[in-house]
Amino acid sequence: MKVAVLGAAGGIGQALSLLLKTGLPAGSELSLYDVAPVVPGVAVDLSHIPTDVKVAGFGADELNKALEGSDIVLIPAGMPRKPGMDRADLFNVNAGIIKTLAEGIVASCPKALVGIITNPVNGTVPIVAEVFKKAGTYDAKRVFGITTLDVIRSEAFVAELKGVDVATVKVPVIGGHSGTTILPLLSQVEGVSFTDEEVAALTPRIQNAGTEVVNAKAGGGSATLSMGAAAARFCMSLVKGLQGEDVVDYAYVAVENGDAEYFAHPVRLGKNGVEEILSYGELSAFETKAKNDMLETLKKDIKEGVDFMA
Ligand code: NAD
Ligand code: LMR
Repeated sequence: MKVAVLGAAGGIGQALSLLLKTGLPAGSELSLYDVAPVVPGVAVDLSHIPTDVKVAGFGADELNKALEGSDIVLIPAGMPRKPGMDRADLFNVNAGIIKTLAEGIVASCPKALVGIITNPVNGTVPIVAEVFKKAGTYDAKRVFGITTLDVIRSEAFVAELKGVDVATVKVPVIGGHSGTTILPLLSQVEGVSFTDEEVAALTPRIQNAGTEVVNAKAGGGSATLSMGAAAARFCMSLVKGLQGEDVVDYAYVAVENGDAEYFAHPVRLGKNGVEEILSYGELSAFETKAKNDMLETLKKDIKEGVDFMA
């Protein structure tokens, strides 16, 4: 198994790479790429951890070498938010970065499973898909927007609110990854129930959790450690799928005849990425309204990504 992390020297990239160095199956390779000159040092640092995962670092002009032979590519490269910014404000600077990296994937590992973290995820995932379409290498089953941070936050907040063991909490989260497009399905959480007031308070807390971190870091960036944990967890789901295990996880994927062209769904993962897009089931009246109300925003975000490549 070879996993490449693009943007590996950043806040997310380093946390994620550490978790992969200690969590990937024995015999795996971890390939770290960044334009920041510290990346070879990050690789050397990680290589001193005694696990059977080989680490190599690649600098600015070595994208193709970093990607060659990769089974999974995770992309946390790009600029994070500062207080007062929306994720959409990152589009202009991050769109070009994600396009260049997607072109590298076309050239070096067109069959890899690609997990996109770079914001705004609602628009960067369509950019990657459009680059692959232009090159004739697009396979919708292999492109994922990583929305696991919304899932793990929901698990943490529900466990805290209800005083239950967090290991037992599962919260489906559908839609996109910004503001109201993030839709936790609290009506489907097994073993706990919520009052209308709790749903009305917890839903926006989950939707605004990224901003909570951005404000708390006061100009020092956005979520990095929790995102590293989220991306590592999602990567392990991809790895298990590639190894032939039956695994279901949530991700922002292309859907045919769905609510929008891209929408976070539960997906069954396997040797080719998405084996099946599963239904997100029945929604409460609150969730149905929230979903209908956010679709216009999500579709606009998607169109911005598609138009960037037109
Ligand atoms: P960071 O600034 O700490 O790190 C970004 C890294 O990307 C830097 O090391 C930088 O050198 C590198 N980079 C820039 N251009 C590059 C290029 N062309 N090729 C390779 N590397 C390049 O930022 P961060 O906190 O790690 O956040 C990274 C991105 O992840 C941001 O866009 C942020 O908004 C996003 N994010 C997404 C989620 C999510 O849930 N999907 C969560 C948190 C952050
Ligand atoms: C998050 O949800 O924490 C990330 O998308 C980063 C951000 O800008 O909020």
